[in-house]
Amino acid sequence: MQYHIVTLFPEWFQSPLNTALFAKASQAGIVGADFINPRDHTLNKHNKVDDSPYGGGPGMVLMVQPILDAVRSIPQTGPIIALTPAGEPLTQKLAEELAREEHLTLICGRYEGFDERLYDLLPIRRISVGEAILNGGETAALALIEATARLQDGYMGKNESGDDESYRHGLLEYPQYTRPENFMGLEVPKELQTGNHGEINAWRRKEALAMTLRHRPDLLAKAALSEKDRETLNRLRQTSFAKNIHIALVHHPVLLKNNTAGSSSVTNLDIHDISRIACTYGIASLQIITPIQDQKLLVRELLDHWTKGDGAKTNPDRAKALSLAHLADSLEQAAENIETLCGVKPVLIGTSAKAEKDKRGREKRLAVPFPAVAELARRQPVLIVLGTSHGLAPEALEQCACILPPIRYMGHYNHLPVRSACAIIIDRLLGDIY
Ligand SMILES: C[S@@+](CC[C@H](N)C(=O)[O-])C[C@H]1O[C@@H](n2cnc3c(N)ncnc32)[C@H](O)[C@@H]1O
Repeated sequence: MQYHIVTLFPEWFQSPLNTALFAKASQAGIVGADFINPRDHTLNKHNKVDDSPYGGGPGMVLMVQPILDAVRSIPQTGPIIALTPAGEPLTQKLAEELAREEHLTLICGRYEGFDERLYDLLPIRRISVGEAILNGGETAALALIEATARLQDGYMGKNESGDDESYRHGLLEYPQYTRPENFMGLEVPKELQTGNHGEINAWRRKEALAMTLRHRPDLLAKAALSEKDRETLNRLRQTSFAKNIHIALVHHPVLLKNNTAGSSSVTNLDIHDISRIACTYGIASLQIITPIQDQKLLVRELLDHWTKGDGAKTNPDRAKALSLAHLADSLEQAAENIETLCGVKPVLIGTSAKAEKDKRGREKRLAVPFPAVAELARRQPVLIVLGTSHGLAPEALEQCACILPPIRYMGHYNHLPVRSACAIIIDRLLGDIY
């Protein structure tokens, strides 16, 4: 692989490309690098390569002509790549694709970047090395060079040492350990010491899934997963953050038809359906909130029938779902119930079909996106507070630390039944993306 590096600072590369494996591979003729400086291709007498941006603003922009001519001076370019924050992300898959080329031309930006017309004049692929801004494309080019060079035959001691690494099969790598077996009381996992390859591989696969779920769950959407992997992931999700999510079904205080705060009646259907949603997603509990005595008696009778009475014998699945349901007089009492269950008070997360407004009709606080609440639920218990009737009364919303966005912003009609809204909200927080 020959790298043609278009840069204003060739000296940037001297140490990295003359050290360790790249230096050895370059001596062995496996890789090579040459440098083309746009400053050597300027047509103006001061060798200027940049100018101020049209439209004003800080910084300088790289002029088209010196870079265009620098690239055109390369006899065989291979794919032409511009390192830019606006590029496609450098991934292992992309590195594997580029590693199959014999030549790569890498254009390193500086200052405010390239004049956009460069892309009209050359067939350039834009690549970024991450969502952070570097001062120049040289460091980004080095990342791309290292990722592709190590995939060349003979570059690494053992070619297979690249086989199991993070991203290779769409997952992060499993944790690695070396001697000593016990360091400050921390033991190497027993499974790795059995010498049984089947057991070691099963442990590594499970840990790779756990590592990916914990640190890069987005990767799971594209990873090739077996049925067993999915089962492992479901178990991990239930024992990790679904167990931190609780649902409150509030019948008081809610908004009634005339827009005043009051109480709504409990309904059989909501209790059954929301318990089943909770059970399906591994939710920790459902808190049914009503301070009204006869309503509480109705709920108690219903729950007893399905969890302890005849219903439990004929339908054990229903018994399992309804055993997640608890009664509470108020949101405060629901939070105490949860503290009794898991030892920590939950963060209350409000829900509403509309943006929360103040008295003057202005948006009161910005809704917190679903992924941020899912992230919070990884760390501590949360109580998703759902209103019946016309939604949670303002005093209930005020008890919530934040609110989720309405399910639909578009259009005027946004009246979902509470159990449908619950299913959508829970799926947005916990839905399997793989
Ligand atoms: C200061 S940056 C210019 C940033 C540019 N104004 C923007 O906001 O997109 C200068 C040069 O560094 C390189 N660079 C910076 N961050 C990068 C990244 N994350 N990936 C690849 N190249 C990057 C590019 O070559 C870029 O032209």
